[in-house]
Amino acid sequence: MKKTPQFSVRTGPSLGLRSEMLYGHFIEHFHRQIYGGVYDPGNPLSDEDGFRTDVLEAMRRIRVPILRWPGGCFVSSYHWKKAVGPERTPFFDKAWRVEDPNSFGTNEYVRLCRKVDCEPYICTNAGTGTAEEMSDWLEYCNLPSEGEYARLRIAHGFPEPHHVRYWSIGNENYGWWEIGAKTAEEWGRLVLESAKMMKHVDPTAELSAAALADIDWNVSLLKNCGQHIDWISIHKYWNLMANENVFATYDESMACTNDLDTEIRKVRGLLEAFGLEKRIRIAYDEWNLRGWHHPNVHTLRQGVDREEYITPRDLNDRNQDYTMADAVFSACFLNTLNRNCDLVGMACFAPVVNTRGCIFTHPEGIVLRSTYHVFDLYVNYLGDEVLNLWAEDVDTMPVHTKEGRPEDVEVLDVLGTRFSKDGTLAFAAVNKHPSETKELTLNTGVHGVYRSRRITVWGECTESYNDIGHTEVTLSEGAWRKGEGSLRVRLLPHSVNVIQVRPV
Ligand code: AHR
Repeated sequence: MKKTPQFSVRTGPSLGLRSEMLYGHFIEHFHRQIYGGVYDPGNPLSDEDGFRTDVLEAMRRIRVPILRWPGGCFVSSYHWKKAVGPERTPFFDKAWRVEDPNSFGTNEYVRLCRKVDCEPYICTNAGTGTAEEMSDWLEYCNLPSEGEYARLRIAHGFPEPHHVRYWSIGNENYGWWEIGAKTAEEWGRLVLESAKMMKHVDPTAELSAAALADIDWNVSLLKNCGQHIDWISIHKYWNLMANENVFATYDESMACTNDLDTEIRKVRGLLEAFGLEKRIRIAYDEWNLRGWHHPNVHTLRQGVDREEYITPRDLNDRNQDYTMADAVFSACFLNTLNRNCDLVGMACFAPVVNTRGCIFTHPEGIVLRSTYHVFDLYVNYLGDEVLNLWAEDVDTMPVHTKEGRPEDVEVLDVLGTRFSKDGTLAFAAVNKHPSETKELTLNTGVHGVYRSRRITVWGECTESYNDIGHTEVTLSEGAWRKGEGSLRVRLLPHSVNVIQVRPV
């Protein structure tokens, strides 16, 4: 007779308070993320500044805490000075090989962040850019009035500084695909010189730099810059589809939920080796189950005509491809980030709008994809204190990787949290099983009578999705029920749930 899995709250200290920036997002000048996405002047749904009000409202609903911009690969040949002020000339984007209208630049981006009420997080050009260009950008954004660039911002109609606190030096400059790719030694030196100049402009700025779980790269970075940077940036997409738009099935996506903390563990070990684990935090500032589709760009064989390398990008926009696999995977990854909240202080879902994002726009409105409801659930129903749980009798299920390799994954993934303001407990409980309802017991440690309820993100089958005029995946709140002692819960197949427990 199989035992019911048990999840118990350990007595003793919690794992810590998670940063709200774990629920951050990323937006890039790629395809329809900016133009036709969040920024759509002339659309009846857009406000006086050209921003889609339906998108702004959806971003506010999931309380986007930080928004990374402008790239991504785009940034490695981007020159910010051409994109401020009244005179804007469209420029050729050498990363994605399209003309950028250049009507959206730093000031439009900061205005977007103020409308969403989120922190700006600017990624600088460490491809073709220089330490001086990066530090000039900080002058423009953060100096009150000293020097050429603060005066330029004022002349552009912004008397007050933009107060951009978070800056990334470069994107993925370790990658051969990145414009201006660097060796580990070159990277350590460029980051050091850039960090010095940026901190000279604004010592309160928090700087991140691209890192890999690659030893040589990180050793050079930490050896050169350990005392100058505040964050280490990690990116990961599990279902890579740059050239072939072939989606991992539900079963294959569940295989991706094994070892979600691999990169975190490796970087944690490196930081501890350098004695930097108390000083530098991880910014997982690009993540998504689904890699973006952009064929014949990131290869040495470039597309020659639009059909070869631009038109296929529209395949990112097929809403039926974003299913409960995306929701269940994303919940498991957010659980992993929360469990590592002592080191991971920021994460950015890539991206927030269109491409593989959680919000899809079309001229008459938006579609909230399955992953949007997971962010709604985590941001609005989970606590800020991460509890230390232990699990017993959790069973596994067989799955296969996209390469066909058999693996076992744990069927349940449960995160414990507490609202530090009132002591309410909230457990994020994921049932990965594609067809079976699963029971579990929560030993909450609450003494006496409590009320509990379950909030669920669910669609009837693993392939459920949302599209224009088609809603299968929803977030629904259950009723509060009284209880006492251990709490037995039944989780629907392929479901993401939060169980709240409030002492009476
Ligand atoms: O596929 C999009 C790209 O993925 C981003 O521009 C880059 O940062 C990452 O390699």
